[in-house]
Amino acid sequence: MTLDVFRFGADYYPEQWEESRWPIDADLMVAAGFNVVRLAEFAWVKMEPTPGAFDFSWLDRAIDVLSQRGIQVVLGTPTASPPAWVMVQHPDAYRVSESGERATYGNRRNYCPNNPNYHDRTREIVGAMTAHYANHPAVIGWQIDNEFGQGDRCCCPVCITAFQRWVEAKYGTLEAVNAAWGTMFWSHTYTDWSQIPAPLKSAASPNPGLALDYYRFSSDSYVAYQHLQAEIIRQNCPEIAITHNFMGFGFGQIDYFRLAEDVDFVSWDNYPRMQWIFHTPHDPARVALSHDSMRGLKRQNFWVMEQQAGPGGWEIISQPPKPGEIRLWAYQAIAHGADGIVFFRWRTARHGTEQYWHGILDHHAQPGRRYEEVKRMGAELKQIGPRIFGTQVAAKTAILHDYHTRFAFQIQGNHPNFEYTSHTLDVYEALYQRNQPVDIIAATESLEDYSLVIAPSLHIMTETIADHLRRYVEQGGTLIITPRTGVKDEVNAVVNAPLPGLLASLCGVEVVEYEAMTASEQRGIRLCEEGASEQTLVGRLWCDVLEPTSAEIVAVYADGYYAGKAAVTRNYHGKGQVITVGTFADTAFYQALIPLLVDVKGSYDDIPAGVEAAVRSHQQEHFLFLMNHTGDTQRVSLKSPCVPLMGDQTSTQEVELAPYDVFVALIQQ
Ligand code: GAL
Repeated sequence: MTLDVFRFGADYYPEQWEESRWPIDADLMVAAGFNVVRLAEFAWVKMEPTPGAFDFSWLDRAIDVLSQRGIQVVLGTPTASPPAWVMVQHPDAYRVSESGERATYGNRRNYCPNNPNYHDRTREIVGAMTAHYANHPAVIGWQIDNEFGQGDRCCCPVCITAFQRWVEAKYGTLEAVNAAWGTMFWSHTYTDWSQIPAPLKSAASPNPGLALDYYRFSSDSYVAYQHLQAEIIRQNCPEIAITHNFMGFGFGQIDYFRLAEDVDFVSWDNYPRMQWIFHTPHDPARVALSHDSMRGLKRQNFWVMEQQAGPGGWEIISQPPKPGEIRLWAYQAIAHGADGIVFFRWRTARHGTEQYWHGILDHHAQPGRRYEEVKRMGAELKQIGPRIFGTQVAAKTAILHDYHTRFAFQIQGNHPNFEYTSHTLDVYEALYQRNQPVDIIAATESLEDYSLVIAPSLHIMTETIADHLRRYVEQGGTLIITPRTGVKDEVNAVVNAPLPGLLASLCGVEVVEYEAMTASEQRGIRLCEEGASEQTLVGRLWCDVLEPTSAEIVAVYADGYYAGKAAVTRNYHGKGQVITVGTFADTAFYQALIPLLVDVKGSYDDIPAGVEAAVRSHQQEHFLFLMNHTGDTQRVSLKSPCVPLMGDQTSTQEVELAPYDVFVALIQQ
C-alpha cells in the first residue's frame, strides 16, 4: 500500500498548533501537491496524557482534515521522547552515558533500550496506537521511534547485565571469552560473568575485544527494541508498511544492515546544510554517499522522511538553502533512488528546542519562497512521479561498508587523522566525480552484479568474507582494497599472519612494514603503468610497504626510507584481479588510479564539475537527472539526445542549467 505511488509531503505537528489552523495548513499542502504527511512521532503525551488514559481523538480529527483532502499519513510511534510521567515512574529507564552519567529529563532519546519498564510502557502506547489505527484507510505507514543511535551507548546496570548474558550466549564459557578477548593481557581475566564491565570512558582504552562486543551488543539492543515495536505493529496492522528514519552514512552506532532487516522500506533524514555539526560546507558527494548507502541497506528504493526545507538551527541558525536548493536536494535524493520525499518540517516551531529549525513555512505561517519552491516541485511530480516511481539505479560498482569495521575503528582509530567514513567518501568521490553509479552494500552481500568492488579498509575480516571476495575475483571481478584491510579477526584480535591476513594470498602481496605518518607528511607515489600521467600522486597518513609474492607492481613510493618499494599492486587471480593500495590518499589519487586499472568509462564522465548526472531505469526506459550544484549557469553537451520530462519536451542534446537547477529527461537510445 505505502509504496504504490510517488509520495511527497512534510512532517507535520498538528499537536503544536491551534486546531483552527489545521484546515488552512491542509489546503496549502494540497496546493503544494502533497499526498502524504508524517504525524505524531513526538506526541506521546497528547495521546497518553496520564498512565493508561489514551486519547486519539485529536489525532483522528487531524487525520480527517488531511484525508478529506486526499492526504494520507505515516504515523510515528512516539517512543523517542517519553512524557515526564513515564520517566518519573521509571527513573531507572534513563540512559547512562559512556561517561557513566545518568541522563535527566529535558531532551529526547534519553532512554535505555533494554529497560524492561520502558519496554512495558512502549508495548502499551504502541499497542494502543496501532489497535486504534488498525484498518484506518488514511494510514499508509508506520515509522518506528525516531533516529535510533543518536548520543551515547547506554551503559546502565540493566545494559551491563544484559551484556553479560549476550556474551554468555555468544561464547558459552568464560574460558572462551577470556581466550577470544586475550584477557591475560594486564590480568583482565574474568572468573565470573558478573565481572564483565561495559567499556566506560573512565576505563579509557578498554580491551578491544570487549569493546567491539559491547558495541555489537548495543547495536543488537536497538535492533531488538525496534523488533519489539515491529511485532506489535505487524500484529495489529499487518498490511501497513513499516519504516524507521535512518541517518544516512552519518550515524555509526547501529548496524544499519541489521536494523533494516525488520522494516519494509528504509527512509532517512537528509540535512545537507548543517555546518556547525559536520564542520564542513555542504558537499553533494557526501549527501550522494548517504543516499546510496540507504539504497544499499535493502538494495531497494527508499524515502527521505525528513528533507531539509529551510535553515537548520537549535541554538544557532545555519545558512539557508539558496533559491533552488530545496528542490535540487530533493531531486538529488530521487536521482539516487528515493520514491518519497517528506520535508522537515511543515511550519517552523514557535516553542521548544527546535525554534530555529526552519520548515517550509516560517513561524508566522505566511507562504514564502520556500513554500513556492516546494509547490513547484509538487506540480512537477504530479507530472513525472508516475514515470519515475519504482525505477532503479543500476550500478556496476559497489563499495563495501561494514559496521563491525566501523565499530572497531571507533575503538582504535589507528591514526589520529584517519576516519573510516571519510576514507570511504574519498574513494566514493573518485567515482562520483565521473558520475558513476555506486551501490554501498554489506560485505556479505551478493557481488555478482558488479564488475568493480572496493573494500576501503575492511579491517575486520572473517573467513566467510575472505572466501566471498576470493570467489568474486575468481569469477572475473575486480577488487580494490586499501590499507588496514584484514588486520583484525571477528573478535578484534590482530591476525596471526602477514597482512592483509586472510587476503594476503588473494592479493599476492605481504605488508612487510607500515609507516604511520604525521598529518603534515606525505609520500610521492609513482605510477609504473603504461599510459599513466607523469603527475606524481601523494599518499598521506599511512604507507604499507608491499612485497609482492605473485602480484605485479603498479606504483612505487617515490620517497621515504622505502622509496622504490611497491605502493600499489595488481594480482590476477582466476578470471579477475585484485588491486592492493598501500596508502591513504585523497580523491585525486583514486581518480587517477582507478581508470588506469579498470574500465570505468561512462556517458557522463566529462560533464562540467559541479553538475551531477544520475540515471534511473526500468527495462528499456532510462531517465537522466542532471543537477547543477553550483551558483552558475552550466551548459552540458550530452552524448545521446534526451526528451525532457518537464517544461519544453522537445528532444535535445544541449542542456542549459540555471544555478541550482535540475533537468530530468528520458534518454533516447
Ligand atoms: C532530525 C530529527 C527531527 C528534528 C530534526 C532537526 O534529526 O529526526 O526530529 O529534530 O533533526 O533537528
